Amino acid sequence: MKILLVGSGGREHALAWKLKQSPSCGTLYCAPGNAGIAEIAQIVDIRAEDVEALCTFAKNNAIDLVVVGPEGPLVAGLADRLREAGISVFGPQANAAQIEGSKGFMKDLCAKYGIPTAAYGRFSDLSKAEAFIETMKGSIVVKADGLAAGKGVIICADRTEALEAARDMLEGHAFGAAGAEIVVEEFLEGEEASYFALSDGRTIVPLASAQDHKRVGDGDTGPNTGGMGAYSPAHFMTEELERIILTTIIEPTIKGMEAEGCPFTGVLFAGLMVKDGVPKLLEHNARFGDPECQTLMLRMEGDLVKVLKAAADGCLESVRDEIKWSPDPALCIVMAAKGYPGDYKKRTPISGRLSGGPSGVQVFHAGTARREDGQLVAQGGRVLGVCARAADLETAQKKAYEAVDAIDWPEGFCRRDIGWRAVKAKRGEAA
Ligand code: AMP
Ligand code: GLY
Repeated sequence: MKILLVGSGGREHALAWKLKQSPSCGTLYCAPGNAGIAEIAQIVDIRAEDVEALCTFAKNNAIDLVVVGPEGPLVAGLADRLREAGISVFGPQANAAQIEGSKGFMKDLCAKYGIPTAAYGRFSDLSKAEAFIETMKGSIVVKADGLAAGKGVIICADRTEALEAARDMLEGHAFGAAGAEIVVEEFLEGEEASYFALSDGRTIVPLASAQDHKRVGDGDTGPNTGGMGAYSPAHFMTEELERIILTTIIEPTIKGMEAEGCPFTGVLFAGLMVKDGVPKLLEHNARFGDPECQTLMLRMEGDLVKVLKAAADGCLESVRDEIKWSPDPALCIVMAAKGYPGDYKKRTPISGRLSGGPSGVQVFHAGTARREDGQLVAQGGRVLGVCARAADLETAQKKAYEAVDAIDWPEGFCRRDIGWRAVKAKRGEAA
């Protein structure tokens, strides 16, 4: 099969690495990719957002399957355009990608189909938002409705802060069009986890759980980022909790989307808050998480091409038992450019051991490129995902940090505590 993978992050490098292991993977193209992906796939110089050019490339090169990594092109209708052209695509159509592209849409779906989530209101009118906020107690969360590169969620300590956040979005246009409508919701307490499941619009194949580290600093301090590290499975995941997530959140979502006339094909990524064994939905995403995906790919056994193609073609049921999971946990440490998530330098050189480490260790590239002389350089905020799999999480953590220390990149940094909640829980300490 000729496959086109769309995207350029660590998630896409991990997907490329796993797709390449499949017996049915012929030529693997990636648009636009990065320096790590270039070592295992043929790079296509088209941006992930350029829907038109991607469709033309897929048609001209008789692509059998397109796998879309990021949400942007999905919300912009890449999957619709490819399907119209008769090309198999793994990823939801625009009306289904709204589940991530519009927080209001996602919340209304929850309300209509009884999916547990934080109590909320949806507003484009400031005075109505203000009146709603005045009725709330404690911490309040104000969210821009549309895609805001992970920055559109403001956790407010009280009503005063919430009123300010609502005004910034609705009147101050803090997030442009993405914040022209907002969701105001109750603050949920508990422990966060991500859960992933595949769907072809009707059939569901559960994947696995993971836990992300969103803050930039050790001990979960400092500003939010796209994710500074992850591990899979989430340390508090049990068969029973997984069953509850599937029956109360994933199944009603997939059924609801079908009933709404926007069946969801692709990977559903549920961001959850779990308290006393009860999961509530924080958000749905229409794609794999980054860096969660890196940890899932390290643990996944089976033919990924076969499964993604079946999901794309509406016959997921036929490959229900294809994917197995290693019981061994996997962990990913993100190395970022100093200054991230604020301003940072580009094109700083990276050397040291980027491949060929001990078994179970894998370095996935995110924002990397090659200089003309072949030198590897940093090209973005999040630059490398240093991953390890081992019999237990502490060993995986140790192996991954040893691999980080074998990389020579003076302008980079990483958190030194990825996996800390799981390690503490295992030692019986409170997080
Ligand atoms: P989201 O983009 O919706 O996942 O929000 C980003 C982060 O904000 C989440 O990972 C949570 O840590 C936090 N968050 C979002 N909504 C809530 C909520 N209702 N209660 C508590 N934390 C929240
Ligand atoms: N790591 C969080 C995300 O991919 O949205």
